[in-house]
Amino acid sequence: MVLAKSEEEIELLRLNNELVSKTLAEVAKLIRPGVTTLELDKRAEEYIRDNGAKPGFLGYNGYPNTLCTSVNSAVVHGIPKATALKDGDIVSVDCGTFLHGFYGDSAFTFTIGEVSLEVQRLIKVTRECLELGIDKAIEGLRVGDISFAVQKHAESNGYSVVRELVGHGIGRNMHEKPEIPNYGIKGNGPKLINGMVFCIEPMINMGTRQVYQERDGWTIKTIDGKPSAHFELAVVVRKGKAERLSTFRYIDEVLKSS
Ligand code: MF3
Ligand code: CO
Repeated sequence: MVLAKSEEEIELLRLNNELVSKTLAEVAKLIRPGVTTLELDKRAEEYIRDNGAKPGFLGYNGYPNTLCTSVNSAVVHGIPKATALKDGDIVSVDCGTFLHGFYGDSAFTFTIGEVSLEVQRLIKVTRECLELGIDKAIEGLRVGDISFAVQKHAESNGYSVVRELVGHGIGRNMHEKPEIPNYGIKGNGPKLINGMVFCIEPMINMGTRQVYQERDGWTIKTIDGKPSAHFELAVVVRKGKAERLSTFRYIDEVLKSS
């Protein structure tokens, strides 16, 4: 099975994931108490279309929106709503694009107003989990090396790892092989090959790892109602150091100046 992408394919994946990164930064500009997740969704869709692309999630398995907006105890796949975000909330905003036959996909967890220190720590550690996973996305290692690095950092900080959902290869389909679990064993799993492109996306819970799906058929929530954080970037496996196709740089710039 061919899992590595050609450099031409990688350029198209880069265009998509760069656009996702910039779309999330547009969303970041609107983040404040009182904004609704539906308003965020509208802005993201408008920005993606203005850039000549299509929302990658809209219509995917019947998904109704451009963004997944998962608030507090929602882990992922929350559907945007007309309810306002309020002071102290956190929201994972997950965004996909489709352009020139390829997909982009990334996510960032935002804080709304003043968020408790313990929830801020959950978010910080989850983002670190992603970084530690990316550090292992190098030629010659295995998927399990990424998984192990993510799990170890989460659990050593007292958090739990969601197992029902995983990172994934990305290309002409949003979800391709290999699966990238956020838990696993060093040295296990498929070998990482130069040119493989995938999304690493730790979903880390403050309490139990157990989750359930809401009756809307989409939203995944923690069963104990405690918060969950989620970050996602798309990377290319390279020799020595992974190459990033998406970035939080634009988001961080917006958040710094706000
Ligand atoms: N971003 C999600 C993922 O990483 C995919 C959302 S699929 C949708 O797997 F159907 F909810 F759009
Ligand atoms: Co994804």
